[in-house]
Amino acid sequence: MNNNIIEQIKDRLDIVEFIRQYVPSLKRAGKTYKACCPFHQEKTPSFTCSSEKGLFYCFGCQAGGDIFEFLMRIENIPFNEAAEKLAQLAGVEYKPKRDTFSAEEQRRASAHKVLDFAKTFYHKNLLAANGAYARAYVKERNLTKETCVKFELGLAFQDNTQLARAAQKAGYSAADLKEAGLCMQTDYGLRDYFRNRLMFPIINHRGDTVGFGGRILGEGEPKYLNSPETILFTKSHVLYGLNFAGPAIRQAGRAVLLEGYMDVIGTHQAGVNYTVAPLGTSLTEEHARLLKRYTENVILLFDPDAAGIKAALRGSLVLISRGLFVKIATLPDGLDPDEYIAANGKEAFEQILDKAEDVIAFYTRELMKKCAMPLSAQDKTHLVTELAEVITQQPDAIVRREWAKYVAEHIGVDENLVLARLQRPGALKTRQVGTPVVSPVSATNSAEEELLSWLLRAPEQIELCAELTADDFSTPGSFHLFQAVRKAAQTGANEKELVEQVKAEVPSLAQEIIKLAMLQIPPDFQPQRDIKTCVARVKQNGVQKRLKEVQQKMKSLGAGNVPPELIQEYMSLQTKLKK
Ligand code: CTP
Ligand code: MN
Repeated sequence: MNNNIIEQIKDRLDIVEFIRQYVPSLKRAGKTYKACCPFHQEKTPSFTCSSEKGLFYCFGCQAGGDIFEFLMRIENIPFNEAAEKLAQLAGVEYKPKRDTFSAEEQRRASAHKVLDFAKTFYHKNLLAANGAYARAYVKERNLTKETCVKFELGLAFQDNTQLARAAQKAGYSAADLKEAGLCMQTDYGLRDYFRNRLMFPIINHRGDTVGFGGRILGEGEPKYLNSPETILFTKSHVLYGLNFAGPAIRQAGRAVLLEGYMDVIGTHQAGVNYTVAPLGTSLTEEHARLLKRYTENVILLFDPDAAGIKAALRGSLVLISRGLFVKIATLPDGLDPDEYIAANGKEAFEQILDKAEDVIAFYTRELMKKCAMPLSAQDKTHLVTELAEVITQQPDAIVRREWAKYVAEHIGVDENLVLARLQRPGALKTRQVGTPVVSPVSATNSAEEELLSWLLRAPEQIELCAELTADDFSTPGSFHLFQAVRKAAQTGANEKELVEQVKAEVPSLAQEIIKLAMLQIPPDFQPQRDIKTCVARVKQNGVQKRLKEVQQKMKSLGAGNVPPELIQEYMSLQTKLKK
């Protein structure tokens, strides 16, 4: 992809608007925008981005870059894939050349293609004349034709070579089919993975088909079969329905987690379109991370049976510890969400959601159910211990305090006793919050940082730095950076181009440069005055650094052994320092 197209894309897309789709909490702060970082856990915002500069940077975890880097990182995709998506979004013509794809990208691209082929193939089967028996099943499950089309439901016939034959005829190889998890090699030859099943294409939040779930038609085991894990498909990283639910979740300000495919489809069909489901796995941190891009409010709606409750409790802890606010709702006994909504309608269903209980209330009630009333001292101890485990998962100190209060009141113990339990080392250890931010080894000190940052804003002042030499800088890296800025400044580049040029000159310090470009400038910034002062500070720091070295040397030589030149230098440095 040539630079011209990259620049064209960057010009057409607003990085702030783009990032907002992933980080809805982005708020204006002066000329830049701020939010809690999507790349690490934090409670106070240190993630910034700027339309003007076309850059983002997190002062907490040092992630930074342009719109391409943001997309690559947040979606965990290679450059070519990100470029294709952004080009499309920007309406810029971009045809990736096959030979610019890495081997892995090629494998992913082939897998995408054959999965799309299979999706269309299975879908046609469902609509074909001999698919009538499956359509009857779908109808019995209350799904309309439109819903089948929207979710691209399909049918895998009893014949377990049908897809293999059709795909190979269309030019796909056995290797492609196996790699995509659609076929397997047996002693009898290549066989389809799915047979006699209603097919649910699994489409990730980006809209890519990554696998299938297949429900047996009629009785049989297993009831649901999912594609094996492939280069594109990690079961525990996908939420079914999120491709449709994403915008609706943002709009509703909440997401509902259900248990299965049919639940998601049934609720969407009935007009509650902000529901998603994991693929038969328990909830993972990746699920939490995904959801957090759309909302921080999640309602879990699970079966009221023992297994369902246990799953809800376990799942809620994962979500809570990633900073989501979780409520739990339960349906009247015996009905799955898809059945309930088909029978009672959207309003009744949403009433159940509105009545969802805060996690701590749900937990407390569930645990107390098992105890005889009034609670014995022993019961109280056990309850506080178990509930303290829940409370410690809560990263927000204010909510944590509220929860402790709630538990104390409902169990009938002193709040301080609950709080004391939280402080036990065992309880604290399980807390998975506030991933310690590792501060990077910085190449620059603060005066240098300011100088470089300001020069990026006011490159025309570069002449004020004429006297600076390598000796003035704290590290070689810092001087290197300065040289790159100077070189770029002399080309008369504007701020955006400047950053690009410096990055190209010292790619190893790219993050540092982005940070410099994103640092806030003082509101009363006067380029000439401030850069002048800053140059003086850098020089003073250089003198101090040299002075320390000289002192060190003098000390190691011992009194009487110091050569006169060194004493000379020492004196002259002292004078410079006083200036
Ligand atoms: N599941 C699975 N493998 C199974 C059974 C279930 O992966 N053998 C997953 C599927 O994602 C399914 C979800 O768990 O959608 C819920 O399963 P279950 O409650 O058994 O099925 P329902 O969704 O109620 O399915 P149906 O209404 O079609 O009977
Ligand atoms: Mn069901």
